[in-house]
Amino acid sequence: MYENEIRQLIQQLAWTDDVTYYHSLRVACLLAKFTEMPAGQKFLKQAWVTQSECITAGLLHEIGKVSWPRDYLFSSDRLAQMDDETLTKFWTLKIQHPLLSERMILELYAKSGNRFWERIARGVAAHHESFDGSGYPYGLTGTEIPLLGRGLRVFDTYVAMSEYRRYRSHFEHERVLKEMGYSLGCRFDAYWGREILAFLESIYIENGQPCGNLDQWLEEFLAG
Ligand SMILES: [Fe+2]
Ligand SMILES: [Fe+2]
Repeated sequence: MYENEIRQLIQQLAWTDDVTYYHSLRVACLLAKFTEMPAGQKFLKQAWVTQSECITAGLLHEIGKVSWPRDYLFSSDRLAQMDDETLTKFWTLKIQHPLLSERMILELYAKSGNRFWERIARGVAAHHESFDGSGYPYGLTGTEIPLLGRGLRVFDTYVAMSEYRRYRSHFEHERVLKEMGYSLGCRFDAYWGREILAFLESIYIENGQPCGNLDQWLEEFLAG
């Protein structure tokens, strides 16, 4: 595995924006738990990715945000106060961030030639695509979306809805799962969305931190 490369990128994210850093760690940690289960192993097989590729995709899906101008990083709570120009710039950055992440990861592919990075990059680029075509950046539909991206979409949404943000409170575990259930077959792949929601329902989640100390979890993953 590429311990140094992953560490360098994720540290950069921690320094830039620690909310997004812990968000990414939560997504990755849940992917790690999922891919230990039979359903998760079937997911890896069908997505043609290894477990470490899948977890690394979780870690790096938001990495493109390190290149955002600082003012925009924490601006979701100030949308109402923004002028039109700033708002347009913010949404442009938001829509482009999966592509920024993809580009950074593809640079590592270009350096090493290892398809480890290419497979991760394709999944990461698609983490905001929706099954029904209503997502971004390309509005891909159904199986046009790499399966890794479809899986990331579900985990990412679960984690985002469960987290506190400065501009809103978090939602309880049961409520998140219920709301997400309505999006099966539209935002989420019907089959894998259901499998992942069933997995999330089954695991014990305390305070939104099923992996305990996330920094420690990261060290163990990188060392493994
Ligand atoms: Fe994202
Ligand atoms: Fe995310």
